[in-house]
Amino acid sequence: MGTDWDSAAATFDEDADHGLRDPAVRAAWADLLLPLLPGAPASVLDLGCGTGSLAVLLAEAGHHVTGLDASTAMLEAARAKGAAAGATVRLVQGDAGDPPFPPGSADVVLCRHVLWALDDRDAVLHRWLRLLRPGGRLLLVEGRWGTGAGLSAAECRDLVLRQGRSATVRQLGADSALWGREVDDERYLLLSG
Ligand SMILES: C[S@@+](CC[C@H](N)C(=O)[O-])C[C@H]1O[C@@H](n2cnc3c(N)ncnc32)[C@H](O)[C@@H]1O
Repeated sequence: MGTDWDSAAATFDEDADHGLRDPAVRAAWADLLLPLLPGAPASVLDLGCGTGSLAVLLAEAGHHVTGLDASTAMLEAARAKGAAAGATVRLVQGDAGDPPFPPGSADVVLCRHVLWALDDRDAVLHRWLRLLRPGGRLLLVEGRWGTGAGLSAAECRDLVLRQGRSATVRQLGADSALWGREVDDERYLLLSG
């Protein structure tokens, strides 16, 4: 399956938060995400996993991670990253808007920087939440970037509240360790669980 994202795959990891190549940036993401997950091994779906940086991070922490992406090149990069780390990540090609997984099959649905770009986000969130087991958690990392693209935290919170779920937002823009530089736009994590 070729997508517009295929051409981005070769250079995608050059952004510090994408590739997590800098140990300090990688540690910042581990410190952010791991305490929000249930005890390992939890079953984690990383929807729109891209080059697999977060998927590999969580697999290395002992979780059972499945990464889904539409882009062949992104998935190839994710496969190489998992192999280089000696981490087991199951990778599946498909549509994050309608993930091909059974209802009630995941402890955690994680999605970073993908929801904002999907159509009909109410329907998408409904499908994502259906994937969770009782007590499962939804973890969204999104932003409204300086380019004007993205989804504000208030919009994202409303989307999740409309599903009858709780939503706790943590602003991340001031934490330059996550981005490898100072940023001045809105970046956040939303936890529902
Ligand atoms: C901005 S990147 C984020 C990658 C990864 N989540 C991260 O934070 O490093 C967006 C990713 O979502 C994937 N993607 C976009 N729309 C998708 C869709 N409808 N189904 C599956 N993957 C999609 C792209 O191929 C790309 O890998």
